[in-house]
Amino acid sequence: MPKHLLFLSLVAAWIAVAADNPVTFHKDVLPVLQARCQGCHRPGEIGPMSFLTYKDARPWAKAMRQAVLTRKMPPWFADPRHGKFVNDPSLSQKGIDTLAAWADAGAPEGNPKDAPKPVPFLNGWNIGVPDKVFELPREFQVPASGTVEYQHFVVPTGFTEDMWVERAEVRVDKRDVVHHVLVYIREPGSNYLREAKFGEPVAFTGSQVLPSEIVTGWAPGNPPTILPPGQAFLVKAGSDLVIQIHYTTNGKAAVDRTKFGLIFAKKPPTERVVTVAPHNRKFLIPAGAASHRVDSSVTVRQSSSLMAFTPHMHMRGKSFEYRAVYPTGESQVLLRIPKYDFNWQLVYALEKPLRLPQGTRIECTAYFDNSANNKFNPDPNKAIPWGDQTWEEMMVGFMYMTIPAGNNRSGLVREPEAIAAEE
Ligand code: HEC
Repeated sequence: MPKHLLFLSLVAAWIAVAADNPVTFHKDVLPVLQARCQGCHRPGEIGPMSFLTYKDARPWAKAMRQAVLTRKMPPWFADPRHGKFVNDPSLSQKGIDTLAAWADAGAPEGNPKDAPKPVPFLNGWNIGVPDKVFELPREFQVPASGTVEYQHFVVPTGFTEDMWVERAEVRVDKRDVVHHVLVYIREPGSNYLREAKFGEPVAFTGSQVLPSEIVTGWAPGNPPTILPPGQAFLVKAGSDLVIQIHYTTNGKAAVDRTKFGLIFAKKPPTERVVTVAPHNRKFLIPAGAASHRVDSSVTVRQSSSLMAFTPHMHMRGKSFEYRAVYPTGESQVLLRIPKYDFNWQLVYALEKPLRLPQGTRIECTAYFDNSANNKFNPDPNKAIPWGDQTWEEMMVGFMYMTIPAGNNRSGLVREPEAIAAEE
């Protein structure tokens, strides 16, 4: 056979194989979407479009290709060189190649018989049926425009004995006007928001010291709170819950009635989950500064374990890093976010809890970009201090830690850092 004919027949054979085995939606793409995308891209969740069916996903093939090649999706910002996280949704190279090849091939459907079974998503609650649901005591009217101060609703639990919470989920009512929700425990005897009337929200933007643990919260991209077996948050008898909601206006008035649900531990846990928030309020980011450093730290005073992180900054947040400095003097980077994105307040949950010997210092380093090159910067000509609103700044290294269930949390970190969270 002449050489060029041999070559042509090889090409033909290759085309035949490729045609036999093209990347199709049902066989190749849907499993990736189910595993990594549908958690957000389905009706009622935060993704702006659904990827449940071929019909839904087909128009987005090219955009998906772009989003996964640039690693814009799924959202995840941890430097892969430091730490391993259970909830890392990043696609494997194979997953990326599959979505790209599918888009390049014209997004073929393939045979529906090849499709995996649909994922059984619950409508509404993702934690299972809650043992107890709390709702905002009344509807909140969000105006069409202007700035709305943080709203705080105090809700009595009515608990007559100590309760251990294993799972918790916020169901936001009007997602397009809710920036974030946090649910705090107010223990009996706490003076926090004592003047508040049950049912009436208290609005303030000034910073106040918050009562104690955050049981759960909601911000785009965060799953509900589902603790591993044996761990729980303690809500003492007679506690109230404080729901903090940050509403943002978008040109259309709305009426919101967000709710949240709790599932209790069926048997006493061995570990108590607490939140610790090394933060720094004493900074002023100079006007125009492209890389302004702010540090915070806490020293751990009883041996404990570190479970997860949520770095928190606003629009000028540029990068964030957590380090452990052990009593031996050794230091280790625990989490590095090289390019912070304030749109995503993600939880980074360690694959294996990290034991922290007594005396370990956790250090946080944040950089802020207050220059005109930061496209999110609302005003590069202003020096920026700490403040609640998104055009002011914050520097908080939220951490979820565990202590033995019988221990008191007050000795965990040195005062005044013992405060669970401020704002
Ligand atoms: C944690 C929730 C979440 C996950 C997981 C997620 N997305 Fe998204 N996605 C969003 C949200 C919210 C937006 C709209 C805001 C934005 O573009 O950042 C979006 C936007 C997009 C867009 C439009 C991008 C653009 O530039 O306009 C595409 C395409 C997309 N996602 C594809 C995917 C794919 C493919 C996956 C899985 C590999 C995925 N997403 C996983 C939440 C998610």
